Amino acid sequence: MTRARVAVLISGRGSNMAALLAAAEDPAYPAEIALVLSNRADAAGLAHAAARGVPTAVVESRAYRGDRAAFEAAMEAEIARHGARIIALAGFMRVLTEGFVTRWEGRMINVHPSLLPAFPGLDTHERALAAGVRLHGCTVHLVTAGVDEGPILAQAAVPVLPGDDAASLAARVLDQEHRIYPAALGWLAAGRVRLADGRARVDGVAPASGALLNPLPSAAAVPKR
Ligand code: GAR
Repeated sequence: MTRARVAVLISGRGSNMAALLAAAEDPAYPAEIALVLSNRADAAGLAHAAARGVPTAVVESRAYRGDRAAFEAAMEAEIARHGARIIALAGFMRVLTEGFVTRWEGRMINVHPSLLPAFPGLDTHERALAAGVRLHGCTVHLVTAGVDEGPILAQAAVPVLPGDDAASLAARVLDQEHRIYPAALGWLAAGRVRLADGRARVDGVAPASGALLNPLPSAAAVPKR
């Protein structure tokens, strides 16, 4: 089996990147991580990747002083040098130009910490708490020109619990990011993702059954008089 070569783009901690690296350690996984690329030299994820023998590179966004096209050209040179044909954004916190997104359309995915289209952008957990939603979660989607838009490949929902703060909710969501992101990258790498009418279909996946209710109806029932 030829495995699809993937560049993982990070800006920080890199826990999703680590989940992708762990999945790719299985020779049966359809993707191999050819490069971990960061726009910040101080991204903690770089050391984790290097310790596992995965090639790393840094293209400092700050050095380009707002010239996004030049910044992206430098990133694409690294990506090409490592022969990657898929990009996985994993906590990559720069907005990409339309030109870059168009060049990688159908071959670039992102993980986002909300159930899109709810809460695109930043501070998703704070905003979910402020909105009082009972279910929150994460999304893996193909990247299109709009920020945090694009055909959805997978989502996971978690309950918002009494006493949650942004940190506890983020941790619950992050656990699920680490499950759905490797799965979705595997589908894309294996050529199982098809696009029709702006939506993605994944061949050979089992739909979930059942429902996640929060709070449970028994707990929410009106007490008997
Ligand atoms: C993750 O929660 C990811 O979903 C989010 O940043 C975090 C990165 O953590 N990404 C975005 O908000 C992009 N819109 P990680 O570096 O540990 O993977």
